[in-house]
Order: sequence, then structure tokens, then C-alpha cells
Amino acid sequence: MNGTRIDRDGPRRPLAVITGIGSGIGLAAAAGILRAGFDVVGVVRNDNRARETREVLLREPCLRDGAAGLQFVCGDLSRRAEVDRVCDGILALLAARGGGLDRLLYCAGTVTSRRVESEPGVETQFMVNHLAAFRMGLRLRDALAASGDGRLLVVSSCSHAIGLVRWRDPMMARGYGPAKAYMQSKLANVLFVHGFNRRLASDRLRAFAVDPGLVDTDLGGKRTRGVFFRFWGFARRWGVSAEKGAATAVYLATAVPLPDSPWVYYKRFRPRMPGRRSRSTAAIDRMWALSERFWEDSPEGRPMR
Ligand SMILES: NC(=O)c1ccc[n+]([C@@H]2O[C@H](COP(=O)([O-])OP(=O)(O)OC[C@H]3O[C@@H](n4cnc5c(N)ncnc54)[C@H](OP(=O)(O)O)[C@@H]3O)[C@@H](O)[C@H]2O)c1
Repeated sequence: MNGTRIDRDGPRRPLAVITGIGSGIGLAAAAGILRAGFDVVGVVRNDNRARETREVLLREPCLRDGAAGLQFVCGDLSRRAEVDRVCDGILALLAARGGGLDRLLYCAGTVTSRRVESEPGVETQFMVNHLAAFRMGLRLRDALAASGDGRLLVVSSCSHAIGLVRWRDPMMARGYGPAKAYMQSKLANVLFVHGFNRRLASDRLRAFAVDPGLVDTDLGGKRTRGVFFRFWGFARRWGVSAEKGAATAVYLATAVPLPDSPWVYYKRFRPRMPGRRSRSTAAIDRMWALSERFWEDSPEGRPMR
């Protein structure tokens, strides 16, 4: 893709919205994207997390100059009303700033060892890892297109390739397993990116999925117990640092232009062919319809855009 050159010293610094900025890959990506001269709006759960994240990022001397360009919007991405409140907050910031949105980097993610409903009937992993990304991508789509070189980046995982979507029971009311739910959500990420590009992309806007590899973060240790908790404590020792894990996302956010490739799934700085199930047109359309229906059926029943 030939992107428009971003003028980082021009009158308007480019802007990236980053979810999951409070830890792990999102935090490391934010540091890299700030270093590249972007302003950043971070999405975190609450004010305390925003304060802590600001402190951590501004500890780095070269980022202190960018302090004014670091803002936060708070909300719990496992709850529909809060996802919409986060989008409203971002749109208000964009209106005040008077410009488009250059990047939306969706890094928020979770794993829960038992099935947790964040709202009646809503399974938390599917909601945080996919449905919230879907909603934010659609609600911020016009702002991304207005930037001239908008990029929607969703952090997925190589596990998408062995994931299965439970089409009749995506909220896994029956037969829940943490890994099954996680892999379903990561497959949904890639299906979403493909669906977004088919329906909404243009030469000014494109979506990408990123595979960070195995990364040494607390992803699998925060809301898990028993076997999964122990498995993650063991597996993460083989993971790369959060900085290395974030490097491909930082590259996709900051490189101009990106290579011309039919593949929009990136690993180690290169476009790769994603798993077969994520390339099925029927599955792409079905996931899109399922996600759209979820939001249209929400208690507020707000339109998608
Ligand atoms: N680590 C790996 O090996 C690996 C491999 C492949 C893909 N990934 C993907 O990389 C992304 C980032 O994961 P990570 O490894 O960096 O783990 P992480 O450090 O736990 O980052 C996930 C972030 O998402 C936030 N988050 C979770 N639930 C949220 C909610 N309901 N509302 C708002 N924010 C929420 C977390 O905030 P709290 O801390 O407040 O919960 C956290 O800051 C995820 O999508 C994950 O699936 C990771």
C-alpha cells in the first residue's frame, strides 16, 4: 500500500488511539508510537490506570516532550455502554483537535479461565477481544478515513489458525474452555480485518491484523486459575519482551509506505498468509453479520456509525 507521507513536524501531529495501553504489548507499542512523533490517546479501564500509565511512559526522558500529546479515555471494554462511551470520548477529542484519526491500534485483550459474563449472555473474551474492536473500528471509521492514510490495526495471534467459531453459540454458554474462547476471539479478529477491508477500506484506509508471537506479559495470569494459570506461568518464560512483541504493530503504525501485498496479516514485519479459516468469504460475512447483530440488539440499539 502506498500511504500518504506523514509530516511529523507539520502543523498537525499524527494521532493514534491505542487500547490496552496500560500494560504489555499496548504499553510498549505506545512508547514506540510516541517516539515516532505521534500524539496518543490511550484507552484504559479507569483514572488510576491512566495516571500509572502516564507515569510509566513519561519516565522515558525522550517521551517527556510529548507529554501534552498523551491523553486518556477511560472505560471497561467488556460492557457495551462503556465501549460506546469510549468512542464518544474519542470522537469529542477529535472534534476539539479538528482533524482525523491516523491509527487505531486495538491491543486490549483478556483470558478468563472460567466463563465470565460481563453482561447477561455476553462472554467476556469474545466481547473484549473482538466485539469491542468491531464496534470501535466501525464508529471511528469515518475519522480514520478523514486522515488520508488511516490504519486500523488489531492485535490477533497465530492461534487464530487453529481456532473455531461456534456459530450457534459464540458466547460459549455450553462447553466453555479458556483456550477455545481465546482462539475463537483471535480468529474473529482476522475475520473482522478481512471484512473491514472488503466493505469499508479505500486507498485512504486499510485494516491489518498483527501476530506479536509469544510475548512475556501477564495476559494469561490476570484472570485465570488452576491449569491455565500454571500453563501461562510456564509458557511466558519462552516469550519475547513486550517491546519485541509490539515491534510489528509499531512498524505497521509508523512505516510509510507499507509494502504492497494482498495479505494484511503481519508477523515479524512481513505480510503473511493467515489461516485458512480466516480467509473463507462465508466466514468473513457471517462474523460481520453476527457482530453487527450483537451491537444492533444492544439495550441502547444505537446505529453502527
Ligand atoms: N502475550 C502474548 O503472548 C500474546 C500473543 C498473541 C497475541 N496477544 C494479544 O496481544 C494483546 C495484548 O495482550 P498482552 O499480552 O499485552 O496482555 P496484557 O498486558 O494483559 O494487555 C492487555 C490489555 O488489555 C486491557 N484490558 C483487558 N480487559 C479490558 C477491559 N475490559 N477494558 C479495558 N481494557 C481491558 C488490560 O487492562 P487490565 O490490565 O486493566 O486488565 C491490558 O492493559 C491481546 O489482544 C492478546 O490477545 C498476546
